[in-house]
Amino acid sequence: MKILFLNGPNLNLLGQREPEVYGRTTLKEIEGMVRARASGLGAEIDFRQTNSEGELVGWIQEAKGRFAVIVLNAAAYTHTSVALRDAIASVGVPTIEIHLSNVHAREEFRHRSLIAGVCTGQISGFGANSYVLALDAAINAIGDKKSA
Ligand code: DQA
Repeated sequence: MKILFLNGPNLNLLGQREPEVYGRTTLKEIEGMVRARASGLGAEIDFRQTNSEGELVGWIQEAKGRFAVIVLNAAAYTHTSVALRDAIASVGVPTIEIHLSNVHAREEFRHRSLIAGVCTGQISGFGANSYVLALDAAINAIGDKKSA
């Protein structure tokens, strides 16, 4: 069971970027947390980050047939990108939207997610733990599909 974790712009700066909002854990450390949990659950993880919207679209397109679930922290593109929404809808790979911060408790422009409507669900506000929760949600989503 393969799960693709995709991270959007500025998430490479986690650890130093606005630590009062995003915490002090780096993306590399988050990847380590996810891999540690995944190994006990028999899940194979691919974990990537890019600052480019087009690259995210390409990775989502390539996920079809290769990954059971996508976990996506689209970062700022969450609030702006019709292209990401269309990619998720086109490919049909179940996608879980995640955020470290609680986007609904922040500025109004972060309350709107253009991708939420085409995602299986959203996990927001649990800091680095949002990623671990998303891994559990992804595994559950795969189980639900199998038993359906
Ligand atoms: C974020 C929330 C977004 O609003 C913001 O643009 C980010 C990170 C989060 O993980 O909390 O870059 O996706």
